[in-house]
Amino acid sequence: MSWQATVLTLFPEMFPGPLGLSLAGRALEGGVWSCSAQDLRQHGLGRHRAVDDSPFGGGAGMVMRPDVVDAALAATQAGADVPRVFLTPRGRPLRQQDVQRYAQGPGLVLLCGRFEGVDERVLQSREIEQVSIGDYVLSGGETAALVLLDACIRLLPGVMGSEESGVEESFSAGLLEYPHYTRPAVWEGQDVPEVLLSGNHAAIAAWRQKQAEEITRERRPDLWSAWLARTEKNGAAATGKTGQTGQTGV
Ligand code: 6GU
Repeated sequence: MSWQATVLTLFPEMFPGPLGLSLAGRALEGGVWSCSAQDLRQHGLGRHRAVDDSPFGGGAGMVMRPDVVDAALAATQAGADVPRVFLTPRGRPLRQQDVQRYAQGPGLVLLCGRFEGVDERVLQSREIEQVSIGDYVLSGGETAALVLLDACIRLLPGVMGSEESGVEESFSAGLLEYPHYTRPAVWEGQDVPEVLLSGNHAAIAAWRQKQAEEITRERRPDLWSAWLARTEKNGAAATGKTGQTGQTGV
């Protein structure tokens, strides 16, 4: 029983797309997950297979019809335990905890829109979650669906090596990752931070933790506030005394 992605889209050729390569592609070939892209046009109405119509109340753009979306959903035969997600900039922001929940389930039904939106009634009546992948506007939900699937697939059992999974576990630290360095030790006159060459593993861990905290505070005050609130609740200081690695994979 593999993890199953069902994508409802006007552009089924976009799937699996980049997810047919690399890590996700190997997992696809290995049967860890499967991808079924269904053309919404199959459920379109009339000679022109219309899937959309103009918005009641006027305005620009077109809206996907609820009857067409419903027919496409019904045809998937996905169980009631499979979350249905509509990718839209109006959705709640996608978080790693959502990704973990989706990856632990049987799969996803993803609805991709290409017009101004989808009729609100079918979203409400068919319990479709609305999810956004960030505060910018894409031309359609397909690339957002690829992002969401990528994030889920790398968490499926057996997809990643143990090295990367370790990084994933420490995501719960909620900090951005510390900076990385490799050879050469001097590049364009720039040294690598000395502590990293010291062989002192405790000192290296403390340095990385401090870097992770500083970078998070500068770049992501939202994550920093949440992390502070959590660590203070746990009675820990905010300077490398928590036993966390600072590796987050963010
Ligand atoms: Cl999920 N869809 C579209 N079309 N644009 C987006 C998005 C989704 N998330 C951010 N921008």
